[in-house]
Amino acid sequence: MKILKIIQIIAIILVLIALPLAFGYYQGTKTQEAKPDNSVASPMAGVAIGGPYTLIDQDGQVRTDEDFKGEYKLIYFGFSYCPAICPTELQKMTAVMAQLTPELAAQIQPIFISVDPERDTPESLKGYMILFHERFIGLTGTSEQIDAVKKAYRVYSRKVQDETMSDYTVDHSSYIYFMGPDDQLLGMYRIKDTPMDITKDIMGLMKD
Ligand code: NI
Repeated sequence: MKILKIIQIIAIILVLIALPLAFGYYQGTKTQEAKPDNSVASPMAGVAIGGPYTLIDQDGQVRTDEDFKGEYKLIYFGFSYCPAICPTELQKMTAVMAQLTPELAAQIQPIFISVDPERDTPESLKGYMILFHERFIGLTGTSEQIDAVKKAYRVYSRKVQDETMSDYTVDHSSYIYFMGPDDQLLGMYRIKDTPMDITKDIMGLMKD
């Protein structure tokens, strides 16, 4: 248990270090322009994140990225067995949806994508998603389908088996992606961003 905790903490730290570096690289390939914009999202805007996918929702329906074209999306990758971070972040997305005006919230589809398709069946996601915003769509799929969508969104996740535990856990990166109607990345929010930070940022981004 202790070893698992340490591994988890190290993995989270590594992800926190590695992801900004990775994004810094992509950002660095573009010409730097001075922007007075202090939005949480601005350093990430325009990064090539996302792409086509085919998955299954909590009602067993096939869903693709095409189903959400024309809508804004808040997307989070995680797993329903996650003890702390995933529920906190999904709760945060729920709070953001509640803080936005109903007009803005209506234009946003909150989506949870499982990085643990082995245990996150549509049936188990059905029970999980009702803990959060009523419009949440939970997506899972075959491991190949999940690998493809993870790659498109540059999501890191890895199964971790500890010999003292009968079950495994999953280390994963934790970002809330805010995607525009044409699937362009508008913002990426971190664990430290509060619902109010995110709400304000989204309000600014949807105004334009
Ligand atoms: Ni998690």
